[in-house]
Amino acid sequence: MRQEKLFSFANRWFSTSVGVTLAIFLFSAIMGFVVLPYAEPDSRLAGIWESICNAAGFPTSRSDEPITPAFTVSTADVGSVAEHDAPATSVGRGATLAQQCAICHGPTGISRADSPNLAGQYAAAIYKQLHDFKSGARTNAVMTPFALNMTERDMRDLAAYYAYLPRLPEGSSTPNEVAPAIVASGAPMRGIAPCGSCHGDIENKLGSPWLGGQSAVYIKSQLMSFRNGTRKNDTSQQMRNIARAMTLEEIDTAANFFASIQ
Ligand code: HEC
Ligand code: HEC
Repeated sequence: MRQEKLFSFANRWFSTSVGVTLAIFLFSAIMGFVVLPYAEPDSRLAGIWESICNAAGFPTSRSDEPITPAFTVSTADVGSVAEHDAPATSVGRGATLAQQCAICHGPTGISRADSPNLAGQYAAAIYKQLHDFKSGARTNAVMTPFALNMTERDMRDLAAYYAYLPRLPEGSSTPNEVAPAIVASGAPMRGIAPCGSCHGDIENKLGSPWLGGQSAVYIKSQLMSFRNGTRKNDTSQQMRNIARAMTLEEIDTAANFFASIQ
C-alpha cells in the first residue's frame, strides 16, 4: 500500500485543514480589527489602518488629542455647594427669586402639577440641575429658559432656599411600604446598586437627588430619558447605565415605590 505523505498539499486532508484554519484566522482578524471597532457607537476612526492599530493597542497619531463628546457635559461643581449651613441672607434672597417658580413647583416647594418637588431637596442636587439647564447639559423646554437668565448666585440662593424648606409632611405616604427588590438590593448581576446607596438620606452620593414623594410620572419620565439617552447630564453615566440595565417593569415598580414614600 502506498504511504501518503502527511504534511503535503497533495494530501487532501492536510490542504483542507490548512485552508479552513486560514479562513477562520482571516475572518476573526477582519471582525476583530475592522468590523467591530467600526461598529462601536462612538467610533471616530479615520481609516482601516487606524482601526487596526487601535484594536491592536498601538498608539496612533491622534491619541494625544482629548476626546470630547458630541454633547454638552455637566460642568457643575457640586462639591462647592454647602449643605445645611447656607447663610440666612442666601435663603431669604432665594425665597424672593422662588416666587416665579411657585406656579409649577408649588408655593412651598411641593408641586401639585407633576413638576418635581423641590422642598427639602439637597442643595447640591438643585444647584447641579439649574447649572446643567443653563449650560445645556440637561435640556427641557420649560426649565431651560428660566435657567438661562440665572446668575451663579441666583442658583446657589435658590438651592439654599429649597433645601431649607421642609419635605412632604409626615403621614402623607402609605405606612409600612416595603421596598421592592430592585430598590432594596438592586440587581448585582446587572451591575445595579441599591438605589438608596446613592439616593438615601444617610448614604447620599453628592449631587444625587432625594426621590421620596416625587410623582411616579416624573420619576418614570427621568428613568426613561436616561435609558434612551435624551438626558445625559449624569456624571460618568451613573444613571444611564442603571436605567439601561433596568426592565420596564422595574422602572414602574421603582417609580411607584418612591412616589409612595416621603
Ligand atoms: C412652567 C413650569 C415651571 C416653572 C415656572 C419652573 N419650573 Fe422647574 N421644572 C419644571 C418641570 C416640568 C421640570 C422637570 C423637567 C424635566 O422633565 O426634565 C422642572 C425641573 C426643575 C428642576 C430639576 C429637579 C430635579 O429633581 O431634577 C429644578 C431644580 C427646577 N425645576 C427649579 C426651578 C426653579 C428654581 C424655578 C424658578 C426660577 C423653576 N424651576 C421654575 C417646571 C417649571
Ligand atoms: C451610583 C449611584 C446611584 C445609584 C445606585 C442610583 N442612582 Fe439614581 N441618580 C444618581 C445621580 C448621581 C443622579 C443625578 C444625576 C444628575 O447629575 O443629573 C441620579 C438621578 C436619578 C433620577 C432623576 C431624579 C431627578 O430629580 O432628576 C432618578 C429618577 C433616579 N436617579 C432613580 C434611581 C433609581 C430608581 C435607582 C435604583 C434602581 C437609582 N437611581 C440608583 C446616582 C445613582
